[in-house]
Amino acid sequence: MEIDWDALREHAREAMQKAYAPYSKFPVGAAALTTSGQIVTGCNVENASYGLGLCAECSLVSALTMQQAGKLVAFTCCDKNGNVLMPCGRCRQLLFEHSAPELVLDTISGLKTIAEVLPDAFGPNDLNI
Ligand code: THU
Repeated sequence: MEIDWDALREHAREAMQKAYAPYSKFPVGAAALTTSGQIVTGCNVENASYGLGLCAECSLVSALTMQQAGKLVAFTCCDKNGNVLMPCGRCRQLLFEHSAPELVLDTISGLKTIAEVLPDAFGPNDLNI
């Protein structure tokens, strides 16, 4: 599948504008292309009970599920300046669960596969024992 990374990054920037981040003042946007060809997006949603804040990737996988858009093929995430942001460790696990085998992520050190950013991941297959 041909991936238009510039367009995907623009979707992430638009999503970032919707972030609810009054506490950290660190809005994040995320966007992904899926196996169905749909684009799914997400933003961080914080909470007065600080530890309950949701990352942009969490919002994105919820959208993926609601839109029944299949699996993640290409992913990007940005900060408030629109620059590429590395997904946090917890979010790499969230993305892994919903990744197509060939998922590629836009990272601060170039395009990388999910296996490169989360090697030897624990996942659904580990439960089939
Ligand atoms: N954040 C994300 O949304 N995704 C990440 O991968 C890194 C961090 C959010 C969480 C919090 O609302 C803010 O960035 C500052 O940590």
